[in-house]
Amino acid sequence: MSTAISPTAYNYKVVRQFAIMTVVWGILGMGLGVFIASQLVWPELNFDLPWTSFGRLRPLHTNLVIFAFGGCALFATSYYVVQRTCQTRLISDSLAAFTFWGWQAVIVGAIVTLPLGYTTTKEYAELEWPLAILLAIVWVTYGLVFFGTIVKRKTKHIYVGNWFYGAFIVVTAMLHIVNHASLPVSFFKSYSAYAGATDAMIQWWYGHNAVGFFLTTGFLGMMYYFVPKQAERPIYSYRLSIVHFWALITLYIWAGPHHLHYTALPDWAQSLGMAMSIILLAPSWGGMINGMMTLSGAWHKLRTDPILRFLVVSLAFYGMSTFEGPMMAIKTVNSLSHYTDWTIGHVHAGALGWVAMISIGAIYHMIPKLFGRQQMHSTGLINTHFWLATIGTVLYIASMWVNGITQGLMWRAINDDGTLTYSFVEALQASHPGFIVRALGGAFFATGMLFMAYNVFRTVRASNPAEAEAAAKIAVVGAH
Ligand code: HEM
Ligand code: HEM
Repeated sequence: MSTAISPTAYNYKVVRQFAIMTVVWGILGMGLGVFIASQLVWPELNFDLPWTSFGRLRPLHTNLVIFAFGGCALFATSYYVVQRTCQTRLISDSLAAFTFWGWQAVIVGAIVTLPLGYTTTKEYAELEWPLAILLAIVWVTYGLVFFGTIVKRKTKHIYVGNWFYGAFIVVTAMLHIVNHASLPVSFFKSYSAYAGATDAMIQWWYGHNAVGFFLTTGFLGMMYYFVPKQAERPIYSYRLSIVHFWALITLYIWAGPHHLHYTALPDWAQSLGMAMSIILLAPSWGGMINGMMTLSGAWHKLRTDPILRFLVVSLAFYGMSTFEGPMMAIKTVNSLSHYTDWTIGHVHAGALGWVAMISIGAIYHMIPKLFGRQQMHSTGLINTHFWLATIGTVLYIASMWVNGITQGLMWRAINDDGTLTYSFVEALQASHPGFIVRALGGAFFATGMLFMAYNVFRTVRASNPAEAEAAAKIAVVGAH
């Protein structure tokens, strides 16, 4: 039974803003990915200029795709999900607006400073201290808006998707603040508060959990809302989702040392990281299976619904990358894979296959609802996008597997007299065909994003403000 609870409306404005910027930053970040992938094929594209060199544009790519594209998708969907599942408006419109503009300011700061060479040199934490402080303020405000909204919820329980979003927000704040502890020596230069192996361990505790909490836990929150909604089926097992949540957040935090195998990090810490990574397979697959099984009785919808296809294929890639990750965490396997393109392939199986695909599916689900339309302008274009994205991802990761294993085997090949069989340049030459295929795969994926932009543009242009307003009304309890 449902009862009317409030005549007021959800704050969809901020959701719309973040949703649109997800597409914009997606195009820029992935376009830049294609550009740096092309630099590895044709080094002339570095143009002999410092600010267009691979070394400076690579961190800009990672910042744009992870924090700008992925971050905006997480803000958009978490604000949407928390309002709808709590049946209440965000606790503060002005704080929510501040998170939007503050987040965009951090991204613009990254676009300016990284090509100029200002960097802490810590991967995924490159932004220098003034931007890092702004980011921390925006993030704490995000936490206030999100948890404040949960506190004033009209529903009795807190939907599991919000648990995942909540953990992602809290842990990201913790990681960012601890890893960024540093001593500024000028406006654009700071030095880490930690030294040596401790610095490395803190950095990869951060780095791994950026993957675990930013690129995984937040997107699982997305999964728990959008897969059941799009499939029009309840989540397969609510009990499994709770076990999944606690197991995942308990285990992830210990796995960071697998990034530091065979380094100065104490051996026991490396082995602990390896063991925890292998155990991590269980909750990861528990979540994946929970999402997949939600389609029981609804599999036929995949034939006609490309949005659902995006969501389900993303889960398949999630399952694949979380099987591959624990294998790569085994020290002997890592001695082959580390430093090679295998890692890059693993990264993009997760990044393109999982993170980007689930975000794209969620944005396609939300856009018509946010702009008062029944559906996206063109389902055919979503379908085209789906195939471009899937083929692009497969080309990317298959070429990187071949390259990675080739490189690993060539680097370790030794002649009878103990000298190396191949020079580094020979391994690089052997990688060239793979680099071409990867650039092609990336171009497929990025082209799909252009189709998405056009489709979104047409849907937004046909937006009906009156219907959009009506859609934002908080109508009944239970109607998420
Ligand atoms: C069109 C799509 C994309 C292309 C062509 C692309 C290309 C690249 C290239 C060429 C690199 C450098 C590899 C190297 O140093 O050898 C890279 C690194 C990276 N990319 Fe992408 N990328 C794309 C999309 C994405 C997305 C959507 C994400 C995340 C959501 C992402 C996350 C990363 C990360 C984390 C790294 C660093 C990996 C590491 O250090 O091990 N990429 N990408
Ligand atoms: C059970 C889950 C996972 C485990 C145990 C795991 C394990 C690993 C291992 C062992 C490496 C290689 C470390 C090295 O040799 O340097 C790695 C790299 C990486 N993984 Fe995963 N992985 C998992 C899931 C994922 C997912 C779902 C994503 C993306 C969304 C992801 C993103 C990355 C990134 C970005 C790197 C490169 C880090 C860097 O060196 O810059 N991983 N992972």
